[in-house]
Amino acid sequence: MEAPGELLKRAKRRHKRCCISTAVLAAIVVVLIIAIPCAVLLPKQKKPMHPATILLPLYIYPSSGRWEPLSAAVERYGDVNFTVIINPLSGPGNSATPGNEYPSAIRRLNSAPNVQTVGYVRTGYTDRNINDVVDDVATYSGWSKVDSGLSVSGIFFDETPHDFSRRKQQFLITANEAVKNATGLREPKLIIHNPGTIPDARLNDPLTDVTVVFESSFDQYQELEEDLQSLPGDRSSRSIMVHSLPSGKSVDSVLQSMSRTAQYLYLTTADQGYYEHFSDSWDKVVQIMGL
Ligand SMILES: *[C@@H]1O[C@H](CO)[C@@H](O)[C@H](O)[C@H]1NC(C)=O
Ligand SMILES: *[C@@H]1O[C@H](CO)[C@@H](O)[C@H](O)[C@H]1NC(C)=O
Repeated sequence: MEAPGELLKRAKRRHKRCCISTAVLAAIVVVLIIAIPCAVLLPKQKKPMHPATILLPLYIYPSSGRWEPLSAAVERYGDVNFTVIINPLSGPGNSATPGNEYPSAIRRLNSAPNVQTVGYVRTGYTDRNINDVVDDVATYSGWSKVDSGLSVSGIFFDETPHDFSRRKQQFLITANEAVKNATGLREPKLIIHNPGTIPDARLNDPLTDVTVVFESSFDQYQELEEDLQSLPGDRSSRSIMVHSLPSGKSVDSVLQSMSRTAQYLYLTTADQGYYEHFSDSWDKVVQIMGL
């Protein structure tokens, strides 16, 4: 026979065990109440991307339906915004308006509510004469005076410098002013600079709307991904362009990662002539941007 003291201790232990299992049970119920609705709701909540815009370098001559993959995507994915870089001749070319098949192809793009076109101007890392750069901007501005359907909404300055000098800084300021002064460009007269890498902060001019902080292969992107994601400031003023995406890689997760750093995105599996054809990944990229 046990002493009454022993019986009491055992009863207390039982009571304690019972309290613990009640607490564990309560915790499980709480977790389930939270987890079940989340598990049910989350898969439907397809918003992995931060809002993003496709920045498409369309360095393709618009003959025999070669812009068709773009037109088809623009119509099919009305929720996706496209900023399309028009580039007739490594710039606007020397005539008042671009030749032959360009005008009707540009008019068609400009008539879509989810497209804005910008004109390509090369700066050669400021080795080009600034007057030629300003003239190119004026040529794009002049398009709309010939035909309002041809007006572009901004300028993409390619090959801008990333290293600072007073001369380079002044070059970029003059180029930017030429855009904002141009009366033939449509609002917002978007100014995009493409140093292809993170530029010296002293080159950031308030008139520049968007800077391409990365333009290279997917392998390079993986190496710099963390640096890019820790950049201070606003993603809406940044662009990332990634080519040579290996075909086995998930377009979804790469775009998701890119959208954390930048609003203006381009991603392609093409590993040569990146911007001279539509790669197999084109439709998939547009589709994911619309999710
Ligand atoms: C697309 O552009 C329109 C008009 O500027 C804007 O209201 C909309 O939020 C944009 N959509 C995305 C996904 O950025
Ligand atoms: C732009 O306009 C401003 C104000 O009129 C003028 O000072 C500047 O020189 C112009 N720049 C260019 C490049 O057109």
